[in-house]
Amino acid sequence: MKSPKLVEVDKSKKHIYWPTPDMKERAWAGTDKIYKDAAKDPKAFWAKLAQDGLDWETPWKKVYEEKPPYFKWFLGGKLNASYNCLDRHLKERGNKAAIIWEPESPNEKPRVLTYKQLHREVCQFANALKKLGIQKGDRVGIYLPMIPEVIVSMLACARIGAIHSVVFSAFSGESFRTRVDDCKAKVVITCDGYSRRGKPIELKKQADLASSAKSVKKAVIVKRLGNNVDMMDGRDVWYHELIAEAKAECKAQPMEANSTLFLLYTSGTTGKPKGVIHDTGGYLTQAYWTTLFDFDLHDNDVYWCTADIGWITGHTYACYGPLSVGATMVVYEGGPDYPDWGRFWSIVEKFGVSVFYTAPTAIRMFKKMGDKWIKKHDISSIRLLGTVGEPIDNEAWYWYFKTIGGGKAPVIDTWWQTETGGTLITALPGIGPFIPTVAGRPFPGTIAEILDDMGKPVKKGETGYLVFKPPFPPGLLRGVWNNSKKYRDTYWSEYGNKTYFTADGAKWHDKHNIRVTGRVDDVMKVAGHRLSSAEVEDALNSHPAIIESAVVPKPDEIRGQVPVAFIVLKRDIEPSEDLQKGIVSAVKKEIGPTAKPHQIIFVKGLPKTRSGKIMRRFLKSILVNEKLGDATTLQNPAIVDYLKEVVGYKKK
Ligand code: PRX
Repeated sequence: MKSPKLVEVDKSKKHIYWPTPDMKERAWAGTDKIYKDAAKDPKAFWAKLAQDGLDWETPWKKVYEEKPPYFKWFLGGKLNASYNCLDRHLKERGNKAAIIWEPESPNEKPRVLTYKQLHREVCQFANALKKLGIQKGDRVGIYLPMIPEVIVSMLACARIGAIHSVVFSAFSGESFRTRVDDCKAKVVITCDGYSRRGKPIELKKQADLASSAKSVKKAVIVKRLGNNVDMMDGRDVWYHELIAEAKAECKAQPMEANSTLFLLYTSGTTGKPKGVIHDTGGYLTQAYWTTLFDFDLHDNDVYWCTADIGWITGHTYACYGPLSVGATMVVYEGGPDYPDWGRFWSIVEKFGVSVFYTAPTAIRMFKKMGDKWIKKHDISSIRLLGTVGEPIDNEAWYWYFKTIGGGKAPVIDTWWQTETGGTLITALPGIGPFIPTVAGRPFPGTIAEILDDMGKPVKKGETGYLVFKPPFPPGLLRGVWNNSKKYRDTYWSEYGNKTYFTADGAKWHDKHNIRVTGRVDDVMKVAGHRLSSAEVEDALNSHPAIIESAVVPKPDEIRGQVPVAFIVLKRDIEPSEDLQKGIVSAVKKEIGPTAKPHQIIFVKGLPKTRSGKIMRRFLKSILVNEKLGDATTLQNPAIVDYLKEVVGYKKK
């Protein structure tokens, strides 16, 4: 194993912040007794949370069971996620806004859906899905932008026990197709088109690639843009027509706690994205309590998580978490810069957002654009700030804290992953402390450790690998769709099958608090989005001019990291600007815009081990002028000097 990389911050700038008495007073969790109690008996702790937080149709028979590397929570218990997000709120919160939807264009009116209205539409669409032949356990592919129908679709699937697989709408049609093929979705849900920065995106055209997959029987099309689309007879159906004729009552199907709620495909170290499996009972327990505790949500809060629904943050904190606690949440269709960089703050002002959750890449971008955009709006309603997706640097943390939070809103830095389903390391708002660049404490009832290469716990201040020990967090993934080998190899092989390996480097800041330093595998975080080197290389290698390629991250001021591609061309092909453009657009078409190489470097060879494995680590170091490791083990050590020259490496 290689050492995790640690980016040091200036220690003299580091401060520690604690909650005010008011914050403690209002918080669901206000003293650190909760950590101590949970640690005494984590299983009993989670059992109490599951009982207190969720409505169960049938109680469980056993709290926890392990058959490494598999584990189960709340065995035999039955519940429904859609019921927990909707029905149980109807009596007390039926007329409370569940979703405040803000369209991309500021000239279009927002749409508010109360819990009652959302419940009605979910029931109607659940009935429609049944009519289309969807049964319990069937997969449904969802490819929609941030419109209320995406949430309706997810909850409608959950209601009838179907498994949803949401694919980020900015991904390519090819990406959607790969995911639909992998899980053999029977129905896909998409829209005619939508507008991005005022420009029409014809999503249906892209989605048709997936709709034509063998497993797909029906494609449901939401009318959003109003563009002309070709509807295929017998396959394509309009969402609004289905809703118009569907009944508004649909009983929520009780599901065993360990049955699959959804799949979410994410990048690993191989070319093919893997379908992370999340269950119903454990996932929802963690989604409910982390939403409540981390953001300290109360009935009068207006909560906004800016993540797209295509990512795990969107699933847990822009759907299941806030709706299961009965919150009012803002859902915004567009980008942060449309029509100008003040858009987010105008939304905060318009709806009085009190809890705001975003990513460091967005924070850095706002910081760069200047405070004038913020000063135009009254954002004093904000009382709590959240961040997620990558380590936040000192400067961005302070800017967020002071400029957006006015120095009064704590910054809740939440560490987690697609695989963990919900946050796992964070400071809690009523307990603290809030320390710039330090994520915080393992959530009560979860056991994190930081291990060295030999599997021994590291000492304070030393970096190691972040792992979790049993009992595993209830929201942790339960498998990889159709690929148990990948599940075992990726998460349960580094330290044996009783230790969950996160692939992140970390260190103890003090006895309780953890600082996460970033990925230690070949996975990048590009503007907070997860992207594997292998995935981009696969796309590149299918280009007819390319023999082989290596993709590595390069630090970027705003996006955190950007992909850089080293490319070896076929013998008779000369590098050219046109070729470069063609290669970039091929990657964009195959994966989506996030994966576009920021820079292409044509080379005559790549550094390789004797067994032929590309040593990306050398390329990474050359790119950032870092000291290079021992090159003698390479099959072709001379390549290193050549690459240094091509890139313009300065240090020795
Ligand atoms: O490296 C960690 C980083 O994001 C990775 C997980 O990415 P993804 O599955 O896309 O999920 C992102 C949203 C939950 C982690 O392995 N990461 C996430 N949050 C933080 C973080 N790194 C440091 N601090 C965080 N708060």
